Amino acid sequence: MADKRLVELENIVKTYRQADRNIEVLKGISLSIDSGEFIALQGPSGSGKSTLMHILGLLDRPSRGRYLLRQQDVSALSDNALSAIRNRTVGFIFQTFYLIPYVSAVENVMLPGLYSRTAARELRHRAEQILDQVGLGDRMHFRPSQLSGGQQQRVAMARALVNDPRLLLADEPTGQLDSQTSGEIMRLIAEIHEQGRTVVLVTHDDDIAGYARRRIRLSDGLITPN
Ligand SMILES: Nc1ncnc2c1ncn2[C@@H]1O[C@H](COP(=O)(O)OP(=O)(O)OP(=O)(O)O)[C@@H](O)[C@H]1O
Ligand SMILES: [Mg+2]
Repeated sequence: MADKRLVELENIVKTYRQADRNIEVLKGISLSIDSGEFIALQGPSGSGKSTLMHILGLLDRPSRGRYLLRQQDVSALSDNALSAIRNRTVGFIFQTFYLIPYVSAVENVMLPGLYSRTAARELRHRAEQILDQVGLGDRMHFRPSQLSGGQQQRVAMARALVNDPRLLLADEPTGQLDSQTSGEIMRLIAEIHEQGRTVVLVTHDDDIAGYARRRIRLSDGLITPN
C-alpha cells in the first residue's frame, strides 16, 4: 500500500533563539509513523513534546532535518503550501480548547472548513453531523461558555475532524478534565482511531497513554529507547 508510511522524520533538529543564544530543543529526532497507528508521546515537562507535535502538524518548521508526509518532502514548502496541506491532513486538539468564545458550537466546528471550497450549507450539515457523533447533538447552538469542559473538548474534537484529516494530534487533551470526563474523551479518541485515523497523543498520565498501541518517550529533545 503506497500510503502505509504516513510520517517519516529524519534527524529533526529545532533550535530557538533566545537572548543571543541558540537553545536546541529537539536534538535529532528520527521517527516513522504508519497510517492507522495510535501513539502516546510521553516525557518530562520541557522535553520537547509540544515542539515535536507542532512540527508534525506543520504548525512549525524544523531548523534542520527532513520531514516526509505521505512521501512528500514538506521541509522546503512555502507557508501557503504548508497551510493547505495542514488544513486537509491534520486535526489538532489541545489542553485548552481554543474555541472562539462568541460563536456557537456549530460555527466553531465549521471554521476550518471555511478555507476549503465546501459550500456553507454542506459545511454546516457536516459540522452538525460530527457534533452529533461526539454526543453534542443537543448543544449545537450553545456558545463555549455555556458548555462544560468536557463538552468544550468535544466541540474542539468535532472542529478537528471537520476536514476529515488522516492525522489527529492531541496535546494533553484531558489535562484540564476530571477522570470521568477524561475517560469519555479518550473513548471518543479511540473511536476516531478505529475509524482509520492516525493518532498521536501527548499525555503525562500512564492510564491515558494505555489507550495507545505504541509509546514513544522523549527526554531532553531525544527519543529514548523503550
Ligand atoms: N517559542 C519558543 N521560544 C523559545 N523556547 C521555546 C519556545 N517554545 C518552546 N521553547 C522551549 O523548548 C523546550 C521544550 O518545550 P515544549 O513545549 O516542547 O515542552 P513539552 O515537552 O511540551 O513540555 P510540557 O510537558 O510542559 O508541555 C522548553 O524548554 C521551552 O522553554
Ligand atoms: Mg507541552
